[in-house]
Amino acid sequence: MSRKLPNCGISSLRIGAMSSARGALMTIAIPFAFGMMPAQGAERSGESIAKEVCAACHKTGEKGAPVIGDKDAWAKRKAQGLSKLSQHALEGIRNMPSHGGNAGLSSTDLERAITYMVNQSGGRWTEPVNKAVPGKARTGAQLVKAKCGDCHLTGANGAPKIGDRDAWVNRVSGGLDKVIASGIHGRGAMPPRGGMADITDAEMRAAVVYMFTESTAPKKK
Ligand code: HEC
Ligand code: HEC
Repeated sequence: MSRKLPNCGISSLRIGAMSSARGALMTIAIPFAFGMMPAQGAERSGESIAKEVCAACHKTGEKGAPVIGDKDAWAKRKAQGLSKLSQHALEGIRNMPSHGGNAGLSSTDLERAITYMVNQSGGRWTEPVNKAVPGKARTGAQLVKAKCGDCHLTGANGAPKIGDRDAWVNRVSGGLDKVIASGIHGRGAMPPRGGMADITDAEMRAAVVYMFTESTAPKKK
């Protein structure tokens, strides 16, 4: 089963010259911002939103809605990836009303509800974290301190070392999304999600961007 990455707006970020690497990183900060609308009231889980709002149609299959738990019905939908699905849920598609009929839901709310429904239907997605809510998503620096640094500070088992500019520029030359994906799925001696089961895809991105930036930024003394 192929697992699609949420929040992957940029498909191939190519980095030719090292000098353009930082500029390229600046541009990826923009798609990042998508989905980070201001929080509307308290944080709600995908499960509670899906049960309160989406289930009205998605529990019964009303008007042809893919039923929560129906793996086949969701397999094709899921293959479009979270950003496409959430765009459809935001804008509405055929008999699916915009925002699931509830204008108060933010795009993050929708993404969470979708992730919940997908996961109830054979998927294994990570519920997106609302960055607008402090204390939820961890920063790249925090994650690296908590875990990634165990290997990436020392270069254990061939991990690209933080500060090793060439190693990181090489890795990222095929596109940032690619290295983030291998961080999520694991690669060689690198465990899936760096060994942190609860790290979200967005946090993974932040940690990778942090290590890359630390390795390629001019040294400040
Ligand atoms: C009034 C009924 C109704 C409600 C309420 C509703 N949906 Fe839907 N939804 C549909 C129908 C019908 C479809 C199938 C549309 C189609 O593909 O023709 C659908 C399809 C979808 C899809 C698949 C879109 C795609 O591109 O294949 C997603 C994702 C989705 N709904 C998310 C949600 C979320 C999240 C909520 C709650 C916040 C929600 N829906 C609430 C009726 C509803
Ligand atoms: C147990 C040691 C270990 C930990 C912990 C670890 N890594 Fe790694 N990481 C590695 C090794 C080893 C490689 C090189 C794998 C290879 O290319 O064979 C690697 C490679 C990577 C790559 C490059 C992937 C590629 O496609 O070239 C990224 C990105 C990465 N790690 C991110 C992270 C992040 C983010 C964390 C923390 C959340 C983390 N790693 C934690 C050992 C680790």
